Amino acid sequence: MKITLSVLKADIGSIGGHITPSQALVNEVKNFVQENGKNLIIDLYISFTGDDIAILCTHERGILDEKIHKLAWDAFIAGTAVAKKQGLYGAGQDLLKDAFSGNIKGMGPAVAEIEFEERPNEPFIFFAADKTDPGAYNLPFYLAFADPMYCAGLILSPKMSDGYTFHIIDVEYTEKDKIIELNAPEELYDIAALLRDNERYVIESIYSRSTGNQALSISTTRLHNIAGKYTGKDDPVALVRVQGEFPATGEVLGPFQIGHYVAGFMRGSHIGPLMPCKLNSTISFFDGPPVVTGAAFSVREGKFTEPADVFDHPYWDYIRTQVSEKATAIRRQGFSGAAMLPYSELEYGGIVEKLEKLNKKFKVKD
Ligand code: 13P
Ligand code: 13P
Ligand code: MG
Ligand code: MG
Repeated sequence: MKITLSVLKADIGSIGGHITPSQALVNEVKNFVQENGKNLIIDLYISFTGDDIAILCTHERGILDEKIHKLAWDAFIAGTAVAKKQGLYGAGQDLLKDAFSGNIKGMGPAVAEIEFEERPNEPFIFFAADKTDPGAYNLPFYLAFADPMYCAGLILSPKMSDGYTFHIIDVEYTEKDKIIELNAPEELYDIAALLRDNERYVIESIYSRSTGNQALSISTTRLHNIAGKYTGKDDPVALVRVQGEFPATGEVLGPFQIGHYVAGFMRGSHIGPLMPCKLNSTISFFDGPPVVTGAAFSVREGKFTEPADVFDHPYWDYIRTQVSEKATAIRRQGFSGAAMLPYSELEYGGIVEKLEKLNKKFKVKD
């Protein structure tokens, strides 16, 4: 059976700042999709990560389907009404356009989708991150799909030894999707040369070279490229099929033990370590640290099992302690140097005006 996995996510308001959506808001989105999606979707899972609500669903309509995207858009509109009624912070934050047109891409919410022929057993992981941008996934998925130091299957499994094709998008080009396809392992250095720049080059999808099947899809929206000003971080979602011709679940999770430094801590303007957290985690220290959650599912004829929380394990408690140490370490240096994002990524009008004013006061001495 050919199915489509779609995840559409948005920040439409949250309690006490950018912390977590209210229960009423989550319920509204869930009820809306359940009621209005009856003849469209096969199954549904609603969750939140930090202040972002995600609608994960299965259907047979393919990617970028107008009806599925409209359903999610309308659910976010309905949720925004509840957020406004409750006085939540940033109500409708990610809904950047007034009217829906065609699909949700470029309108503010994030979307990741994969259409595929279901394998007899079909495991996948749904990742969601808050207080960061899509480039946060560059390092972990590069390591999981291209580095035998992290992915043993590249050495051990004949189904994986042909490697993977990376589709990498230049998010600075906003007119259309501008994508390069590069093959691992032959073009590893080229892949690394691009992926080191998390703010510009972002993994969009990855394909198995032995079967041609799609392994992964990441939402690549950069909100500041849509709005032209700071409206919140992009808080990306990802879908990753695992096992068989793809890396094992544990191989995909492995690189998240690094807790690598990413963009998006406090006001989307600071660097912080990415902390793997339990499902439905909230946000705290310095409006962070940046978090990622993972829900593993099996799916059969489009029907989900219950989610398995991939970071809910004593091992990850140990990692969370280490990542907290990294967060504390970089926070000690406040605004200085590497702790804060470069000027081009700050997107706060205030600092631009301030620097312009100060610039006029500089005097060139002979
Ligand atoms: P099992 O032997 O438990 O199926 O595990 C196989 C595997 O590949 C785990 O990475
Ligand atoms: P969000 O993008 O998650 O709304 O966070 C915005 C922010 O500025 C937090 O400090
Ligand atoms: Mg927010
Ligand atoms: Mg958010």
